[in-house]
Amino acid sequence: MGVERTLSIIKPDATTRNLTGQINAKFEAAGLRIVAQKRIQLTPAQAGQFYAVHAERPFYGELCDFMASAPVVTQVLEGEGAIAKNREVMGATNPADAAPGTIRAEFAQSVGENSVHGSDAPETAAEEIAFFFSGLELVG
Ligand code: RTP
Ligand code: MG
Repeated sequence: MGVERTLSIIKPDATTRNLTGQINAKFEAAGLRIVAQKRIQLTPAQAGQFYAVHAERPFYGELCDFMASAPVVTQVLEGEGAIAKNREVMGATNPADAAPGTIRAEFAQSVGENSVHGSDAPETAAEEIAFFFSGLELVG
């Protein structure tokens, strides 16, 4: 598998509750290195572009409004098997199903307001990293 990079987003429900540091501590404890990070405010259109894969889903409008409702922290995590490892640390989409100790079990408020996003495959990781970061911003 080797060393990978994945795109993570700390979502508005978590940034507004001042949980960025506690969430980053979970990544670092799992051996994931934060190699790029910025706090930005998305427009609904930008959120819609990022989540275009979900455009036909009933929750799409709500998801775009939520992602644009307050700042997010976008970040690139690096490590051995980083894509799967991050998904493990995040926990299941619905916090009711998330394993104890995961970010979503500890912090998520609902299936929609679930504190973090993580890329789900190498192809999406590459696309999502390029959506937010230029090569110059990835210093390792
Ligand atoms: P993410 O893409 O944010 O990392 O989350 P995920 O892979 O675990 O879940 P996914 O199926 O890709 O859904 C993307 C995000 O849409 C919101 N959602 N709301 N109301 C609902 O039933 C519902 N289902 C999904 C969540 O914010 C989810 O993370
Ligand atoms: Mg997803």
